[in-house]
Amino acid sequence: MKIILASSNVKKAVEIRDILKTFEVVCYSDMIPAFEIVENGKSFQENALIKAKAVYAKIQGIMNESFWVLSDDSGLVVDALGGEPGIFSARYSGEGSDVANLQKVISKLQEKGINESRAYFCAASAIVGEKGDYCVHGFAYGKVITTPRGQHGFGYDPIFIHTNHSVTFAEMDRLQKNTLSHRFKSLELIQILLRYL
Ligand code: IMP
Repeated sequence: MKIILASSNVKKAVEIRDILKTFEVVCYSDMIPAFEIVENGKSFQENALIKAKAVYAKIQGIMNESFWVLSDDSGLVVDALGGEPGIFSARYSGEGSDVANLQKVISKLQEKGINESRAYFCAASAIVGEKGDYCVHGFAYGKVITTPRGQHGFGYDPIFIHTNHSVTFAEMDRLQKNTLSHRFKSLELIQILLRYL
């Protein structure tokens, strides 16, 4: 069964392919020109479904085999920032670069005079296909710090430390992050769904 990924985020796609090893995962932008999807949902779940449905609508007409469109909407939720950046994680700083977004979280914590806060990552994974639309969630709990560490991963990985670990996600290799991450947890559930649908 082919899985078409509704994302052109290369680093996210690498992680998803690593996790869904037994599936053929193709980025939609390798099949049709990438197009803008307005993520105006009010939750990770709404945005994941918006992305998967938008790609499904465009791809449906050109496919002659069974397929699912998979999307991932994810972000960081920081307790001391009242849940920010949350669903705005990808565009928290406006400009949208990973470094600027991460720096904004650090600056906001420093403005409050604190150097760490409880936080979690959330991933909503949605699949859309001829058998319907489904969405599941995965979470990774821990804390954020104000001194970035590590070179691996992407986004907020250099400031996130998973519960019971002392290194950041960016200091872990791909394999280790992929057994702890919110994305791994939600994709575990997606794999169960795909087996039974
Ligand atoms: P999305 O592509 O709209 O789902 O944006 C998700 C944003 O949340 C990314 O741009 C990252 O900034 C952040 N994010 C999501 N998952 C991770 C992760 O595993 N590590 C670090 N940052 C993440």
